[in-house]
Amino acid sequence: MTVYKPLLDLLAADEPPLRRWATLIPEQIKKGLDPKRFGKLEQWQKAINTLPELSVSAIELTDKVALSTSDTITAEDTEKIKTELKQLHPWRKGPFDFFGIHIDTEWRSDWKWDRIKNQIKPLQGKTVLDVGCGNGYHCWRMAGAGAELVIGIDPTAVFVMQYQLMQKYIQSRKVFVLPVGIDDVPENLQTFDTVFSMGVLYHRKSPVEHLQQLNQCLRPGGELVLETLIIESENDELLFPKDRYAQMSNVWFIPAIPLLIKWLERCKFKNIRVADINQTSTEEQRATEWMTFHSLADFLDPDNRDLTVEGYPAPKRVVILAEK
Ligand SMILES: C[S@@+](CC[C@H](N)C(=O)[O-])C[C@H]1O[C@@H](n2cnc3c(N)ncnc32)[C@H](O)[C@@H]1O
Repeated sequence: MTVYKPLLDLLAADEPPLRRWATLIPEQIKKGLDPKRFGKLEQWQKAINTLPELSVSAIELTDKVALSTSDTITAEDTEKIKTELKQLHPWRKGPFDFFGIHIDTEWRSDWKWDRIKNQIKPLQGKTVLDVGCGNGYHCWRMAGAGAELVIGIDPTAVFVMQYQLMQKYIQSRKVFVLPVGIDDVPENLQTFDTVFSMGVLYHRKSPVEHLQQLNQCLRPGGELVLETLIIESENDELLFPKDRYAQMSNVWFIPAIPLLIKWLERCKFKNIRVADINQTSTEEQRATEWMTFHSLADFLDPDNRDLTVEGYPAPKRVVILAEK
């Protein structure tokens, strides 16, 4: 809980909506990081505790996420550190430069950030919510872009522990990743200047409800940054996978852009615009020594990389910006 004390103090001193959330967060953290639910929690915590107390000489968040130390790290130390870091496998979002160790994650999340960073409203001094932030890679980059406070939320405990591992060294008073899902965020916060939802919409059984929840988190005039899977069509079409999509069992709806825009309009978003469309490449998402499970290359038709193994269009993603 000490990891989150600065956040709780900040929120407790804020406007009523955030004060209200602050009263709920301690219980939400307990539930989100309950050892009875997550059998490996102790192992993850032990790995974090075992990592050496290095003095941090530089923290780079603007062009990459990189930590440096002036302490001497021997080849033997490096191997020990790598072993502890790998206790928190799978490392999906990154990369991180961890005191000279390159954590080459499954995703080149920096590529996604590069595609959006110059399109969104400036984050300087802003209060940001990153829904489904994974281990918080983009949250660190948002802080690097000048955000005053970034709250990431993600219900996957191992990713939250990866954030806590980084936070052990960064000790940021601006970036916090909470072990909660969007349904734990109180209704009608109407607080955040920018709300990101990247890679989450298609995991929700009710996409419209998700967009409404995001709208409620934003202050009037705030910006939504929505990144999600799409199918290509000029019509209001939707792919509803019969079963799995690219081997994922939790992909529910993949809309075409015109339908996605219609959903956003129905949820009262304005100034809706497409900022980027990108078909995910096997260079951007791939297995590495830090994520040894199957990855995109295994989920595509070996004879036609434009199709998934199930015969659906291969993953293509849009970034849509909209205002409340
Ligand atoms: C595909 S990843 C995207 C991670 C990151 N936003 C990015 O774009 O690289 C989706 C994330 O959403 C999280 N997630 C799933 N259900 C969620 C929910 N109900 N609320 C918030 N996050 C959720 C998952 O744990 C996962 O880390």
